[in-house]
Amino acid sequence: MERKASPTQRDAFATRLGVLAATLGSAVGLGNIWKFPYLTGENGGAAFVIVYIVATLFVGLPVMISEHAIGRMTRANATDAFRKLAPKTPWWLVGVAGVLSAFFIMAFYSEVAGWVLAYIAKSGISLFQGSAGALATSDPLATSAVFNELVSDPLWSLIVQWVALIGVGAIIAAGVSKGIERMTKRLLPILFVLLLVVCIRSLTLDGASEGLKFLFKPDFSQLTSSAVLVAMGLAFFKLSVGMGTMITYGSYYPDDANIPHNAIRVMLADVLVSLLAGMAIFPAVFAFGFEPAAGPSLLFITIPAVFSSMPFGSFFMVLFFILSAVAATGAMVSLVEVPVALLHEKLGWSRIVSTVVTVVLLAAIGSTAALSSSTLANFQLFGKNMFDLFDFASSNILLPLGGFFISLFITWRFGFGNKELVATLTNNGTLKNTWLVKTFLAIITVVTPIAVLIILLDGLGLFA
Ligand code: TRP
Repeated sequence: MERKASPTQRDAFATRLGVLAATLGSAVGLGNIWKFPYLTGENGGAAFVIVYIVATLFVGLPVMISEHAIGRMTRANATDAFRKLAPKTPWWLVGVAGVLSAFFIMAFYSEVAGWVLAYIAKSGISLFQGSAGALATSDPLATSAVFNELVSDPLWSLIVQWVALIGVGAIIAAGVSKGIERMTKRLLPILFVLLLVVCIRSLTLDGASEGLKFLFKPDFSQLTSSAVLVAMGLAFFKLSVGMGTMITYGSYYPDDANIPHNAIRVMLADVLVSLLAGMAIFPAVFAFGFEPAAGPSLLFITIPAVFSSMPFGSFFMVLFFILSAVAATGAMVSLVEVPVALLHEKLGWSRIVSTVVTVVLLAAIGSTAALSSSTLANFQLFGKNMFDLFDFASSNILLPLGGFFISLFITWRFGFGNKELVATLTNNGTLKNTWLVKTFLAIITVVTPIAVLIILLDGLGLFA
């Protein structure tokens, strides 16, 4: 259904499907196919998945609804939104902190996107070399060797990251976000279908059931408090919440968009894609004797093995990594847009200059993550190399803190029965979703802030 964008002078999403697709385009990314499986593998499987889903329902989703509401009420970027709702208070700092989160996330995300690009090339070469290709094997030692060769090479690690960054920068500078939106809308369904294909192959391998058990049969005795924090961090990361991306997106929502329903749909689709990725990867992990706790390399050593064991595998593998790159691009654009928009609107620099400055800064910070398995392998802070530090600090500290303050802000600014907020969530009473809005308000004012605070402090070992 085509409809006019809301009558504001700012850019806006034009259709309901556009709203859904754009938000989904930010949420679905490497978080689903790379981060979810590797964290699930490291943290013992099903029990972790369940905590992650609970955190999504009680923390990620309510924060997403809050961010969309704040954005649409103010129709402003993440810092100005707070300024408009609470003038002369320091709440806008929540928006500023989001920029820091964006840099931390992009530092490692761009490197993983670079690995995906490298794997497009590698699987493309395998496609031409047939069974002689380096990735045409289901031997764990061989596929790990291919990955280790890439990350231990400092020059290639930097090149692939820069290619990813320049690609994202070019898209943002060109301002073709419309094109990206249209592209994501078409390609996400293909990624979904391809994941289904990989799932079917993976589930029909000998010994696949062990993997399903790992993913779906919980053993809560193995769950540590740091794993609970990691699961909550993943819930933030997955839905792109806790740093202002979704405030910005909400500010483009048309007046008739149903904020709570849209957020629920995005959340369901996003969880589904992650579970599909898990079902594609874990049966193969067990069938081929891989290590589920392999860490960030998990995707890159198991996926080639699954494809190598199926007809036309090399072809599907190229396709899989291309679609992963597309999903990663949509997510990265939504991350990089945050600092670019701020530089552009606050310092008055042109979009091109703002983008170039942001990308150069990202390359500088990100290179420490890119080199963390080679040149900087021995450089550690808080017992972690730079890649792991950026990964850990963003998801497990910055995003939860952002989410905590956003939920406090909702409580402080609107309280429980605030008409303004209820009007935004019910489209001035035209939507029949009163109970949903009430449930949301109860969760965001009570459950979310308390849960985030306890899990954060406990996970960081501050209660011990
Ligand atoms: N959600 C994306 C993913 O899963 C990553 C992402 C994009 C993100 N924008 C974000 C994470 C903003 C946190 C905040 O790949």
